[in-house]
This record gives sequence, structure tokens and C-alpha cells, in this order.
Amino acid sequence: MAGNGSARKIYRVGMLGFGTVGSGAAKIVLESTPPLPDKTGIDIRLHKIAVRDAKKPRAVALDKKLLTTDFESVVHDPEVDVVVEVIGGIEPARALILAALKNGKAVVTANKALLAMHGKELFEAALASGSSIGFEAAVCGGVPVIGAVRDGMVANRIESIHGILNGTTNYILTRMIEGRAPYAQALYEAQSKGYAEADPSTDVRGVDAAHKLLLLSNLAFHSMFDFGELHVDGIEGIAIEDVTYAAELGYTMKLLAIAKRRNPGADPDEVPGGIEMRVHPALIPFAHPLANVRDVNNAVLIRGDATGEVMLYGRGAGMMPTGSAIVADIMDAARGSAKQTFTKLQFFQNPRADLPVIPFGKIRSRYYVRFSVMDRPGVMGKLATVLGQFGVSIASVIQKEPHASGDVPIVMLTHNTIEDRFREAVAEIDKLEFVRKPGAFYRVED
Ligand code: NAP
Ligand code: HSE
Repeated sequence: MAGNGSARKIYRVGMLGFGTVGSGAAKIVLESTPPLPDKTGIDIRLHKIAVRDAKKPRAVALDKKLLTTDFESVVHDPEVDVVVEVIGGIEPARALILAALKNGKAVVTANKALLAMHGKELFEAALASGSSIGFEAAVCGGVPVIGAVRDGMVANRIESIHGILNGTTNYILTRMIEGRAPYAQALYEAQSKGYAEADPSTDVRGVDAAHKLLLLSNLAFHSMFDFGELHVDGIEGIAIEDVTYAAELGYTMKLLAIAKRRNPGADPDEVPGGIEMRVHPALIPFAHPLANVRDVNNAVLIRGDATGEVMLYGRGAGMMPTGSAIVADIMDAARGSAKQTFTKLQFFQNPRADLPVIPFGKIRSRYYVRFSVMDRPGVMGKLATVLGQFGVSIASVIQKEPHASGDVPIVMLTHNTIEDRFREAVAEIDKLEFVRKPGAFYRVED
């Protein structure tokens, strides 16, 4: 770090990658009004930016001399104070971050996949070098949820997190449900707008939301969960028919990321207390606070023991919102506060013996289920009998008009039950001779 003769501190940024997020951050550094130094007293300067192709047109006009194709030169440049990793993926991002940390540089990254899979190694390296890793941009784009959980709600025991954490899938669901857009077109639009990951299957299969849930949960529950402990389902299998029937019952469909504490229950099937962690499509009532979170927006509903419910909402992906979070972390590093906060984080030192992840089969939920059956007397009674045999209690039921094929959809909502028991009941029903197709079901979060 160097002075320039004035009172303002100069803080130099080395950037790895200059795509959607990198361009957003650079644009804010270069064009923010009022200029960043006027707001913060620190002169943030872009010093070096590494890209694969230096000739490629860029979204932000800048001095071409800043660009290099030598990524190593950024992390080893003695003049660079903070390394901003916005490449994505595991390698070379991981190795470059480790090198930057070893050189004592602060690191800022938007790379939730890397932190979810290799966070322990990277956080330990940062602690060992007395440095820091800022990752506000990794969760919910421009919404400052990491800071809220880590600092703002620190006085709380967090009871639950319910989030719409992926902008691409929320955009796709909104376009499919409200605009009747085909899935492929909605996905193409999300990609064109810069929301999707380089491999969009990460978005649509729920993996990106699960990466983010893991990072939030580590902070909220002072733990270091393994990614393999989360149950993850995406939006690919959603049938619009079910979205329509659910709407008639007063529910909408969202890809939800859920982490919640569960106390030991009285039921003999119950596991001891622990935490449920899962990402899957879910039905929520139209009146639910997350129901009107549309398009690329994200929202996180956090319940703390002192605060009650706190909700954060805003744009979860895209160039400028995510660039905003990157610049906030750069400022945090420049002020020295990132280092202060980071070294005090305890989350990966907790053995969390008291907080096992509850196996997915043992979660408790309500369910929406659609059976496709033949139109004949006694069918409804038989369905209810089998569900009852497995302890699944029906909350409401509707029989729809037969399809042209002759299949009759019977749609039910259940009361709370255990996942394994519900699945066993549906599997038993699927074997009945009047059933035309396997039951389609979704969890319901009230
Ligand atoms: P992007 O537009 O694809 O940009 C990636 C940049 O990294 C490009 O400049 C590219 O160079 C460079 N790059 C890609 N692969 C590389 C490799 N193997 N080696 C070296 N350089 C490589 O990606 P992005 O959307 O900005 O996302 C970057 C990171 O931010 C990812 O971790 C992503 O998950 C995260 N993120 C994205 C968003 C969003 O809305 N897009 C929001 C939050 C977090 P060239 O330009 O020369 O091709
Ligand atoms: N692909 C991600 C999303 C980018 O759609 O939410 C923001 O993390």
C-alpha cells in the first residue's frame, strides 16, 4: 500500500477474470458517483486484470495496459493489496487464491462453488497468513446477507433460514409460471442476461443454491458442514400442471434453500435434534413473504431467537448488483475491517457434535401429491387407506376433470409427516392396478 502525497490511502486491486462480475466491480470503481474516494477516503485503484483473451471486447472501457494474460503475475505482484477472484470454478481459482494468501494479500471472491467445496482449506490458509477472504458476492449477488448473518444478527441463535438463493432458477420459474414461456427459452434469457453459471446445470439442478446455503449455514450455525450432507433437487422435473393445480389451492412454486434447527421429537421415528439442510422446489402459500420474490430477485428469511423473522431482498445475480458486493468487500479489506472480522470467525473450529445434519428421509414436511388414476369407484377411498397405513394424514383433496388420455388427476395436500413414510406410501400406491403414472409430489413450506 502506498501514499500519493495526499491524505488519501491508495489501495491496489489485482483482478483475476473480467467477465460479468469483474466488469461490474470495475465499472463501480471507475465510474461511481460520487467517486468512491469521496465516500470512503480510500483511493481504490485497478492495478492489474488477468483475462484469458486480452483482445476480447469488454463491457467496460479501461486502459488496455491494465490487462494481462499472466494470472500468476497478479497474485505475486508486490504492489497488489487485494486479489479479486472472479474466474469461477475450482482450478485455477483455488491455486491462485492460495498463492495470493501466502503472499499476505487480502482476497475477495464471488466463487461460492469453490468456497463450498474447499472453504476449510482456503479459510485456514487465510488465517495462517493473517489475511482475509471476503465473500459477500458469493451469496445473493447485491443483497448483503453475509454481513447480516455474520455481524448484524450475531446476538441471535439462528433458528432457520429459508431462501430463494438462485436468480437464474427464480427467473426461469417466473417466466414459466407468469409468462407461460417454455423452459428452454426462459433458461436462454437468463443466460443472455448474465445470471447463469458458466455451466447452467449448476443453477437448474439446485447445486448453486446449495453452495450458497452451505456458506450461510456455516456462518449462521458456527459450523463447517460438508456439501455431501445437503439434499439437493433442482427445477428440471417441475410440471406446469402441478404449478396450476397448486395455484388453485393457494400456493406458488419456488426453489427453496432451507436450513432449520429441529428439536428432538416424541415420535418413535424421530431422530435426535439437529439441523435440516435441503434445496428443492417447494410450494409456499401466496401470502408467504417469499411468494412475491420474482424474476432474478433473491430473498432470505432468517429467524433469530431475539429478532424473530428478518428478511433481506434484492437482485441476486448480474453485473452491477454482484459488482456492488465485490466493491463492498474491497472497501472492507482496505479499511482493515475484513482482517479484524475474519480472524475472529470461529465457524470451522466447532466440532458441532450437537448439530448433526438430519438425514433427508427423516425430515418433516407437508406434501402436495398428484396421483394419476383410472376413473372408477372406490379409488379415492383406497388412496386414503394406503396413506393412512403409513401414518400420512390428508389435509385437503381435489379430483380434477379427466385428461384426454382418460387419466384422472387426484391432488392432495397432507399434514406434516416424515419424508420416508410419505415416500413409502406413494411407492405402495404406485403399485395399485388403477394407478396410471407414478405419483408426483412436492414439499410444502408454510
Ligand atoms: P464470466 O462472465 O464467465 O467471467 C469469467 C472470467 O474469468 C472471464 O474474464 C474469463 O476470461 C475468465 N476465465 C474463465 N475461465 C477461466 C480459466 N479457466 N482460467 C482463467 N480465466 C478464466 O463469469 P461471471 O459470471 O463473472 O462469474 C464469475 C464468478 O462470480 C463465478 O464464481 C460465479 O459463480 C460468481 N458469481 C456470478 C454472478 C453473476 O451474476 N454472474 C453472481 C454472483 C457470483 P475471458 O474473459 O478472457 O474469457
Ligand atoms: N448463477 C447465479 C444465480 C449467479 O443465478 O443466482 C449469482 O450467484
